[in-house]
Amino acid sequence: MEPQGIAVVTGASRGFGRAIAIELARSGFDVVATMRDPAAGAGLREAVRDGSGTITVMRLDVTAPETITLPDGLRVLVNNAGTEREYLPVEAVPMQDWRDVFETNLFGLIEVTRRAIPIMRAGGGGVICNITSASIAMSVPFYSVYRASKAAVQTMGETLRAEVGQFGIRVVEILPGPVDTDMLASSARRPEAAGCPGYESMAQAMHEGRSAVEQSITPPATAAAAVCEAILADDGPLRWSCDRLGGQLLAGWQADPDGFLGAR
Ligand SMILES: NC(=O)c1ccc[n+]([C@@H]2O[C@H](COP(=O)([O-])OP(=O)(O)OC[C@H]3O[C@@H](n4cnc5c(N)ncnc54)[C@H](OP(=O)(O)O)[C@@H]3O)[C@@H](O)[C@H]2O)c1
Repeated sequence: MEPQGIAVVTGASRGFGRAIAIELARSGFDVVATMRDPAAGAGLREAVRDGSGTITVMRLDVTAPETITLPDGLRVLVNNAGTEREYLPVEAVPMQDWRDVFETNLFGLIEVTRRAIPIMRAGGGGVICNITSASIAMSVPFYSVYRASKAAVQTMGETLRAEVGQFGIRVVEILPGPVDTDMLASSARRPEAAGCPGYESMAQAMHEGRSAVEQSITPPATAAAAVCEAILADDGPLRWSCDRLGGQLLAGWQADPDGFLGAR
């Protein structure tokens, strides 16, 4: 597609979503950068003065349907808003954590998406871009809630792509590895599982093993450029990485899913 018309990004207050909003606007889209607190959008408009597109800030909480208003003429939706909780073994995760994370990462994303589809159909097509996670490709301990929510988005996206291609709507999925944001910084902590009997040494090993991640962190602007590329690629695949480590994980998973997941 040509980089023009309206693009909506969720969770654009900071981190990856903010970088994606800026990148899309710089490449020519008129971006609606949505966020829970529009005050967090200060400075966004100025960030794209050198581009051919624009940025408008709007309030949108994916868990509050009354805040979800999408513009006529919508061509691109980037479902970026996401959250996670404590890193705990499945047996210790409070049910409320499952509900909260799925409320944002899956149900909120679906609520926005189902409203975007009729608008894109009326406009003759568009792109729906879901941000999942390269962590789907690894059986990482203590990430069950987050990974399961992203895997649900992945599966939903596969079906959606099969359904809406006939309307000129292309669904793409980005599986980021480590991108330099608040969420990544927060994940550097010792997993809360360290306090769960029987899981202490596993939690410690995970904490110590993070040095591999630390060496592979990608700046948000670099990852956002890859997202933009995926959105513009008319004949592109469903799944994309946006950083080096994420690319390696995705390639390994696609080559040998069972072996890579350690599921044998
Ligand atoms: N960073 C990574 O290494 C990495 C790796 C894989 C996948 N991802 C995915 O990339 C996306 C962005 O992550 P990030 O690293 O930028 O995380 P982040 O720094 O924690 O930012 C999360 C963003 O989501 C927003 N958000 C959370 N709940 C929301 C809600 N109910 N409605 C609207 N917005 C909401 C936050 O808004 P507030 O400012 O209001 O809290 C914030 O803008 C997420 O889907 C994440 O799972 C990130």
